[in-house]
Amino acid sequence: MKEKEEKPKKLTRAQLSEAWKMLKFVRPYRWYFIGGLILLSISSLLVMVFPWLTGQMADIATGNSKYGLDFQSIAKILLVLLVVQGLVSYFRVIFFAQVSERGMADVRKNLYQKLITLPVFFFEENRVGDLMSRISSDVDQLQQLFSVTLAEFLRQIFILVVGIAYVIYAAPRLSVVMLVSFPFIVVGAVFFGRFVRKLSKKRQEELAETNIVVEESLQGIRTVKAFANEVFEFVRYGEKISKLVKISLDLAKYRALFSTFIIVVLFGGIFFILWYGFRMVDNGTMTIGELIAFITYMAFIGGSLGSLGTFYTQILSTLGGTERLREILETDGEMNLTLDQDIEAIDVQGSIQFKDVHFSYPSRSDLPVLKGINLSVNTGEKIALVGQSGSGKSTIVQLLMRLYRLNSGIITLDGKDIQEFDLTAFRSVISIVPQEVLLFGGSIKENISYGKPYASDEEIRIAAEQANAYEFISRFPDGFETLIGERGIKLSGGQKQRIAIARAILNDPKILILDEATSSLDSESEKLVQDALNTLMKGRTSIIIAHRLSTIVDVDQIYVLENGHIVEQGTHRDLADREDGAYSSLAKLQFQGNNV
Ligand SMILES: Nc1ncnc2c1ncn2[C@@H]1O[C@H](COP(=O)(O)OP(=O)(O)OP(=O)(O)O)[C@@H](O)[C@H]1O
Ligand SMILES: [Mg+2]
Repeated sequence: MKEKEEKPKKLTRAQLSEAWKMLKFVRPYRWYFIGGLILLSISSLLVMVFPWLTGQMADIATGNSKYGLDFQSIAKILLVLLVVQGLVSYFRVIFFAQVSERGMADVRKNLYQKLITLPVFFFEENRVGDLMSRISSDVDQLQQLFSVTLAEFLRQIFILVVGIAYVIYAAPRLSVVMLVSFPFIVVGAVFFGRFVRKLSKKRQEELAETNIVVEESLQGIRTVKAFANEVFEFVRYGEKISKLVKISLDLAKYRALFSTFIIVVLFGGIFFILWYGFRMVDNGTMTIGELIAFITYMAFIGGSLGSLGTFYTQILSTLGGTERLREILETDGEMNLTLDQDIEAIDVQGSIQFKDVHFSYPSRSDLPVLKGINLSVNTGEKIALVGQSGSGKSTIVQLLMRLYRLNSGIITLDGKDIQEFDLTAFRSVISIVPQEVLLFGGSIKENISYGKPYASDEEIRIAAEQANAYEFISRFPDGFETLIGERGIKLSGGQKQRIAIARAILNDPKILILDEATSSLDSESEKLVQDALNTLMKGRTSIIIAHRLSTIVDVDQIYVLENGHIVEQGTHRDLADREDGAYSSLAKLQFQGNNV
């Protein structure tokens, strides 16, 4: 029993300290926030004058005014109050907007900077849709907190305190009656908060789940259709939605219970106070104006109590959201982003060595993928990696790109551990034409110059020509300005690959990695692109992954991979003649009837 009591308390404290950490994002704008709070207090105070004025008017009308006021002076006071109130409210909103808009822009930028510098395996463990919702809706909630929720919460507390203080001063006896119902509401609000906090977190998670289904199926819409899986996906989505509805309705149930509770207590209290108050007026212990003022204050106090619960839970659910934001912000990135572009370029020769490299992917740490890889490429040499699908070829180049950390062993560049180089500078000496080319939404030109944003048009054109891409590009009406991606045209696999090759050519790297770079080309284009690649590879250290052995016959060294081991190495000539060799049997299969 005790444990149960303790738990939520701990959680709240932890969440509070988390929220405290997020405050660093609004700290630069704290003067706006403080200014906003001051204006908020002024406007709340002004609002609290209205009930009093109402009471005064009733007393003037019934000839009971204690302060000698008349309707004309009341009208003047009202006019002044309105003007001041208007001005104060205007600047209050502006001030809070400064804090929330600028502060949250900082949060978003920080999040994005973190996300983009996080290591690849982070994205294998977290789905993009979920990360997107953090950067959009969780931050939105936080923004709401600083622009509205927090201010409203404080305003309600202010109204509550001032209202109660006034009525106790003005009508002590009647106030006692009112304050009896108070503890009920507070206790109720606390219980409500606990329930709703849990439920609304769960609801948020469920909502993210449903979005993931939509995102995955729409992203892979071709696959869905190819397998005629529309019904399956629809049912999957439907199930998630039903779960969401169930949780949302549970949430609604507790809200409903709370409203009912508030209404009963509140209206019961109001009726009783009316009855009691009119009796006091009847026997002359109170003026009618005082009763009217009291009742209006009471309405204010009741209203603020009612909304406090809502704001309270909103604040708590926002704090829940910051937990997910902090998770990202506190993960270590691979590098620090610096906006000044002068990263020290490193001057390397380009000899590479893998020494006894062992590796398993962080997401599947129980499954060794590379089991003691040794290989070396001298400056300007070409090596090829061949082997069955899944044998670890792409993994080797990903490790060379420093996308993952080794379990053991070492990879060197010019004899120096690659970990010792500045990551950005290190990656900039390598170009990769990957197995699956991803182009960004934008023009062809922007995509080619992705690794060298300041390249001239001429350089871009030459790169495209060398990659044998110029011909198809110039056939588009807009040429290099043709938009590709979601809002533009769609390129074929071979066209994408040639753009990627042009990108690599333009980069002029020391080290070139080709992961099945010609796999999506027909044999004629392949020949042309192969020629381009041969030119490109000259004088550069190159690692070529190829299924078609015809493209690698003249490399300096071929490594045959099997299941994470290198089982054979040598030149095409060495390996092709071996009896029962892994390479020779592959070669036999491929070259049969090809006469290469
Ligand atoms: N991101 C990843 N997370 C977990 N396991 C992975 C990941 N990428 C690859 N693997 C696993 O590592 C092994 C080697 O994969 P790799 O991509 O290196 O093979 P490959 O030789 O390039 O194959 P292919 O010729 O089909 O491209 C495979 O068993 C694969 O399932
Ligand atoms: Mg591969």
